[in-house]
Amino acid sequence: MSCTIIVGGFFGDEGKGKIVAHLAHQDNPTIISRGGVGPNAGHTVIVGDKSYGVRMVPSGFVYPDARLFIGTGVLVDPRVFLREVNELGVRNRTFIDRRCGIIDEDHIRRDKGSEHLAKKIGSTGSGCGPANEDRVMRKLRLARDLPELKEFMIDVPEELNGAIARGETVILEGTQGFGISLYYGTYPFVTSKDTSASQIAADNGVGPTKIDEVVVVFKAYPTRVGEGPFSTEMTMDESEEMGIEEYGTVTHRRRRIGEWDAGMARYSSMINGCTQAAITGIDRIDKDCFGVTEYGKLSKKAKEFLEQAEDEIGCPVTLISTGPELSQIIDMRDLR
Ligand code: IMP
Ligand code: MG
Repeated sequence: MSCTIIVGGFFGDEGKGKIVAHLAHQDNPTIISRGGVGPNAGHTVIVGDKSYGVRMVPSGFVYPDARLFIGTGVLVDPRVFLREVNELGVRNRTFIDRRCGIIDEDHIRRDKGSEHLAKKIGSTGSGCGPANEDRVMRKLRLARDLPELKEFMIDVPEELNGAIARGETVILEGTQGFGISLYYGTYPFVTSKDTSASQIAADNGVGPTKIDEVVVVFKAYPTRVGEGPFSTEMTMDESEEMGIEEYGTVTHRRRRIGEWDAGMARYSSMINGCTQAAITGIDRIDKDCFGVTEYGKLSKKAKEFLEQAEDEIGCPVTLISTGPELSQIIDMRDLR
């Protein structure tokens, strides 16, 4: 693998961060670069006994040997960014493209305001929608305009394309999920940009011919935060009975839980140009699968679910996550 994109196949929070971390430890990328909207995305990371809700630094930061980039298309909230690089101790290996758009306090106010997106569609209130609006209106400040970000400035496409040309491994990390894409999602209950693999490539200035693999991450039981259609949604009682209860990293809102959505899996795999899929939360299909690291040791029920899902996705399922820890994964990429 030289250049791999990781994206979410459902409504976000599929466990992309864990897949990125696993691939990074296996494949040793020199760069992990983030695409997607901005600090509306959250990823919960546990370091020692502290839990962080990471919103700006790529979730691949847990792999210590890669440089971490924020791609050109990603919105940066400088307050969140500076706090994270300091807290996570990644200040000397994290870089931002000079042309990233900047979220100001005013964008957050506008996002949260009573007539605005937080009320209307249940946005995260992180200022992303209003900032993208200002970018389209050509009145947004860019990262290069901020003295406090000077030490982080870099030309992300130049660095990434150089690394790819030298045959190094790079990972482009998507955020959000397919179902909240501005183009392909459940409009108007969507985020302020496309979220598919092509967008993640564009966010980083890497052309389509340079992408080797697109890994689409699906959750055995998809979740959705915020408003909007969710055709396979279960009742709160049903999900509680199954022991599933999740909360958003950014907003701490309770996530809505649903059943596997075959139609959405197929459509999202098609538009993402999926070359291989990852399925997370297989231990929720069958508790006996918790922590299993070999395909042969999965239960019959889990194998049947995976075979059917593979048919629907139309691509090999090469990564199966069986629990929250990094080691709780089945990696079958070699067998493809
Ligand atoms: P916004 O992106 O903050 O404008 O929010 C628009 C919609 O996308 C809301 O329903 C949010 O809950 C959802 N959303 C945005 N980012 C994420 C994410 O990273 N994971 C899950 N949902 C998200
Ligand atoms: Mg998240």
